[in-house]
Amino acid sequence: MQSLRDLLQEAQKNGVAIGHFNISDLVLLKAVFAGAQELKLPVLVGLSEGEREFVGVRQIAALVKSLREEFDYPIFLNADHTHSLAKGVEAAKAGFDSIVFDLSALPFEENIRQTKQAVEALKAINPSMLVEGEIGDIGTGSEIHDHAPDLKKGLSTPAEAKQFVDGTGVDILAPAVGNMHGMLMSMVEGETKKHLDIERIGAIKKAAGVFMTLHGGSGTDDGDLHKAIAGGINIVHVNTELRVAWRHGLEQGLAKHPEEVVPYKILPPAVDAVKEVVLSRLRVFNGGRHFAQGV
Ligand code: G3H
Ligand code: ZN
Repeated sequence: MQSLRDLLQEAQKNGVAIGHFNISDLVLLKAVFAGAQELKLPVLVGLSEGEREFVGVRQIAALVKSLREEFDYPIFLNADHTHSLAKGVEAAKAGFDSIVFDLSALPFEENIRQTKQAVEALKAINPSMLVEGEIGDIGTGSEIHDHAPDLKKGLSTPAEAKQFVDGTGVDILAPAVGNMHGMLMSMVEGETKKHLDIERIGAIKKAAGVFMTLHGGSGTDDGDLHKAIAGGINIVHVNTELRVAWRHGLEQGLAKHPEEVVPYKILPPAVDAVKEVVLSRLRVFNGGRHFAQGV
């Protein structure tokens, strides 16, 4: 089976991006896997520190490994937004394929220093683990926010991107390019969209010369996503949209079976609702090309 690095290279060549979907229970994992399988596309499943705390680090590693082996399928596991080396080491030892080592809240020089140390320590445990570093400010969590934060001052520059990549040795860079974690209610209702600084993405890619991830994919304009991918984005993260679908699906399942107590009879609408989001986002990330290729 091709490695995650090989698949990223292939995605880059084909002008498409790999979808990264956050999960924190079996409903979400089933839905993400079913969506990817239906379109025959490789997929990344990610869990932040909080999501890992809930599911279990070794438990999710075992689940994803079992899907990969039983179905001979390119599903990969990412330790999303990891803020300490100890948590990174835990994920590396459990067999995660990649990590987002996120010290973007620290002063820039300190972010470089500690990320470099993390790259060395994590690759000593697993040389093929891909390490992503983060720069700039893209706001807080994958939740519904009351106000849009002012992220203009935290936008990444091409010079910073180059300095960070050269100084750390990261495989993947996550810059701040107008993206933001979470959604406003107007985005959940489909009235507004996030927009990206496309020119900045192209300039950062040229300067940094590594794979690039776009965080905060939920609620982003489809056209902007196409342009961002054409400009050098190789992975797109989506979380809040899945969480919203999960909740709506769950409510639907409970409303449909008001007296039911059997989880596997209540939960299928939640799986279906999340899967629909996964399918529609994967189609955008692949610009319609996935049907020709497949895994
Ligand atoms: O790492 C997770 C993502 O960046 C998700 O962002 O909740 O805005 O989709 P989102
Ligand atoms: Zn993120």
